Amino acid sequence: MVRHFLPDPVMDNPSYNFAAGPGVMPAAVLEQAQKEFLNWNKSGMSLLETPFSGASFKKLFQEVRDNLRQLLAIPDDYQILFMHGGASAQFSLVPLNLLGKHVKADYVETGYWSAKTMREAGRYCQVRVAASSADTGFDSMPNTWQIAPQTAYCHITSNETANGVQFHHDPDTGDIPLIADMTSDFLSRPVEISRYGLIYAGAQKNIGPAGLTVVIVRKDLLGHAHAATPSVFNYCLQAEADSMLNTPLTFAVYLAGLVFRWIESQGGLEMMAQNSFRRSARLYQVIDDNNDFYCCRVQPAHRSYMNVCFNLVNEALTEKFLAEAEISGLHHLKGHPMVGGIRASIYNAMPDEGVEALMLFMRHFAENYRSYV
Ligand SMILES: Cc1ncc(COP(=O)(O)O)c(C=O)c1O
Repeated sequence: MVRHFLPDPVMDNPSYNFAAGPGVMPAAVLEQAQKEFLNWNKSGMSLLETPFSGASFKKLFQEVRDNLRQLLAIPDDYQILFMHGGASAQFSLVPLNLLGKHVKADYVETGYWSAKTMREAGRYCQVRVAASSADTGFDSMPNTWQIAPQTAYCHITSNETANGVQFHHDPDTGDIPLIADMTSDFLSRPVEISRYGLIYAGAQKNIGPAGLTVVIVRKDLLGHAHAATPSVFNYCLQAEADSMLNTPLTFAVYLAGLVFRWIESQGGLEMMAQNSFRRSARLYQVIDDNNDFYCCRVQPAHRSYMNVCFNLVNEALTEKFLAEAEISGLHHLKGHPMVGGIRASIYNAMPDEGVEALMLFMRHFAENYRSYV
């Protein structure tokens, strides 16, 4: 088992999980869930056995939603939905729910995930590319956008998990609703919610178990779903039913609630932002200090604070790097299959010690293999 608070079973050194998703969870949250697993809320039964229509679960559901609203300072004119299907379902649900009478929607193409979103949206509408960094190999977020006036919305992927590029601000699209896939940087920083028409995030990075998807939608955008939209994927119907049109992901919502409380106890989103900035800056520094050995293809101002992606100058050393990292208790550092190289995902629950262990390993590895470059 890969846990950062347990010694590695073979090497007797600490173990750290750098997986891109499902990613590292706060140890305190897992411990609390374990403690409460058989007897939740002094009910004598597990939460897994608790009906979602009962008063105790409804109370929990409301608390979790309130905690999220408070954490992100979500204004009252936004609805919070807890949905099934992961972020990928939203690639279709956004156009199905928001196009209304429009036939076109704008997308900003910044890497693997936005490209995938655009392909899926193309099944429902004409996809316009408002901006793209494809020409430069997705090494940055595009500066100039051209959003068509008659578009339904403009979609961005705030952090490209596979490519390691991130928006470090909330873009302003004026009257055009801005839609963001925040799957891999949700809750890593404060967000100016009023800039967005809708935000969605799959849970498996900074929230909790895979499958659960948080949707935050401005209420005036509800009610325009295509007639063929399945009811459980209709934002408006789910909003009216309090996200309980069908059985919600009860255990996942409970765990998300524990994570929200953990974030609060750590100092909230300001602290998450400081942590991720500091941790990623230290890793990028090691890469840049050893630029004869490691290289990061992303321009410094656009580098992700969540997914630090880099390559070895001698790519033939990549497998050796990964194998020696595993032995040193540094797990799941392999880059996305479509991008290659190394990726260190340092979500909110990654402790400073994990980043320090990786920095030390990277320096040693460079010293040991520099002559092979
Ligand atoms: C930015 C981004 N969007 C969407 C997804 C897809 O999420 P899911 O597997 O929950 O559908 C991922 C998964 O890693 C992601 O990183």
